[in-house]
Amino acid sequence: MRPLGSSSATGLSPKQRPLYPIDLERAPCQRPADRRPTRAREALILRGSAAKVRAVSETRARFLRRFAVATVAYNLAVIVWGAFVRATGSGAGCGDHWPMCNGEVLPRPRSLEMLIEFTHRITSGLSLVAVLALLVMAFRWTSPGHPVRRGAVFSGLLIVSEALLGAGLVLFRLVAGNTSMTRAWFGAAHLVNTFALVAALTLTAWWSFGHRRLAPRQRPGLTATFAVALVATMAVAVTGSIAALGDTLFPARSFAEGYAQDFSPGAHLLLRLRIWHPVVALAATATVVTSAVVGHAVTRRPSTRTMGLAVVAAVVTQLGLGLLNVFLLAPVWLQLVHLLVADLLWIALVLLAASALEREPDPTPG
Ligand code: HEM
Repeated sequence: MRPLGSSSATGLSPKQRPLYPIDLERAPCQRPADRRPTRAREALILRGSAAKVRAVSETRARFLRRFAVATVAYNLAVIVWGAFVRATGSGAGCGDHWPMCNGEVLPRPRSLEMLIEFTHRITSGLSLVAVLALLVMAFRWTSPGHPVRRGAVFSGLLIVSEALLGAGLVLFRLVAGNTSMTRAWFGAAHLVNTFALVAALTLTAWWSFGHRRLAPRQRPGLTATFAVALVATMAVAVTGSIAALGDTLFPARSFAEGYAQDFSPGAHLLLRLRIWHPVVALAATATVVTSAVVGHAVTRRPSTRTMGLAVVAAVVTQLGLGLLNVFLLAPVWLQLVHLLVADLLWIALVLLAASALEREPDPTPG
């Protein structure tokens, strides 16, 4: 049986056809078993089925859109909680056990660290379930080749690698008071994966609203501009994760002490690398603002204007929060806000790129 979206048997015009094709076989059948349908009755049945199918498709499309957006929002909360685990030194709250917590499936929390770490495990486990549910819906409710499917597949792969990287941190004891550079690079890889996951989920949600797929070769110059801005923002995030680890492991008691640590040859490498974060952030800001301006100038789409403004607002806010972080000696609440805004900036940048590089609509015949 052909899916509705690819069939003309429904009598629906292309405009009326549902965005999310479903199998006619699954729609309630109105054909009376005992009578042979006449042509007129056949037409009536088809129209009735088509209306029902359309209603079901619309309900599913709406559900998929809401679910995809909720999954992005939920994952942001999980990410921020993950930073809370690091900032409070709770990464070893479940010992070096994974996926069990101190060897138990459902432990009774015996310390605050254990409660914080176990909550992170539960919430990130639910995140895995949500992403897999998104994947199932994408494959059941959209037609082959729909970009939602591709976004959901990438999200599925990235949530699995995210879990494995998180497990690696615990199993190799790269948590709590561990000051090795292996921990710093592992943590940076975890953050790169997180950003890639957020990008995949964001694009899945974007495409679930019916936006067209990307056509990067249509505008190679614009594609290169966005590639530079995205890589630069990722680099800021990586240097930020190193700065965050340095602040957590070697907290300074005053601004002067922190400043001296940054330039002292005897200081830990994590502290000497910290200074690169604001430097890379300023360079990345230039690329991000350029992509917003060029993106709108080239495409002149209302969506690129909105997203461009969101990107500029987020990057300016982030620079302010970064400065505040330095002067207030990175209190935990501000670390979490700074990370959340970094993710929002990333989402806005991904959406800006998606709207600017969206394939041009097919020319209407005639
Ligand atoms: C494009 C702008 C920026 C972005 C996207 C960004 C992103 C990030 C990220 C992702 C982290 C790691 C958070 C974590 O793992 O918990 C971080 C940490 C940090 N950033 Fe930035 N940052 C930006 C600008 C700045 C600037 C301009 C400064 C300083 C002048 C700064 C200061 C810090 C500090 C002190 C930390 C460590 C404490 C913490 O985790 O909040 N940031 N940043």
